[in-house]
Amino acid sequence: MKIVANFKMNLTPSETKSYLMNFIPRYKSSHDLTLCFPYTNLTLASFLVQGSSVKIGGQNICEDEDVKTTGEISGKMLKDCGVNKVIVGHIERRVKFKETNKMINKKIKTALKNGLGVVLCIGETLAEKNTLKTLDSLKTQIEECLKGLYEKELENIIIAYEPVWAIGTGATPLAKEIETSIKAIRKVISEDFSPKAGEEVNVIYGGSVNYKNIISFSKIKNLNGFLIGKSCLDGDNFLQILSSI
Ligand code: PGA
Repeated sequence: MKIVANFKMNLTPSETKSYLMNFIPRYKSSHDLTLCFPYTNLTLASFLVQGSSVKIGGQNICEDEDVKTTGEISGKMLKDCGVNKVIVGHIERRVKFKETNKMINKKIKTALKNGLGVVLCIGETLAEKNTLKTLDSLKTQIEECLKGLYEKELENIIIAYEPVWAIGTGATPLAKEIETSIKAIRKVISEDFSPKAGEEVNVIYGGSVNYKNIISFSKIKNLNGFLIGKSCLDGDNFLQILSSI
């Protein structure tokens, strides 16, 4: 399975060192695992996972390469830190930094141009869910975020379905509801690119994944993996989760 761990603004470089020195020798699963750390930990983390199958990811990329912006990070920098892929479109960035689908589209193009894979987060708000607008919302986000991309580029993109109301809240959709959304995501890709692309694109689920719900969620049809936030923070707990699926 494709597993993306989002550490958000957790772990200092020294905490990352302790985490990985405990985690890496004990990680025996065959998942395609990417650990996404804050900028400050990327070079060290890349060094510490050397020789293992674990990849390192970033949590943001500046969409604009030409304007050297204070506090931002470029694709070239991420690549040079040993980063394999980058999360874009996370709801926390959409809300706090007013990231729009248009900006996210630019971020995706910049990441791909720099040889980085992309984890594109999309998901409906609670209001959209309650007014039965989930599928419309997913369609708009996919179409605006993937605008102008070539079908071939989808190979380097993982779509993370993360209902906004499930992130960090402990609440989750029913497995059946996740399955419906995954199916809808594949349908949009299939209409906008090709049926083959719709079948082959990687789609994962994120939002309050834990050791209890992951087992039943892992049986969802056409789901390729998980984006995990809180449950990756304790290395022992995360190892347990990874070996249970
Ligand atoms: P959570 O976070 O697993 O803590 O809900 C997921 C995310 O923010 O991507």
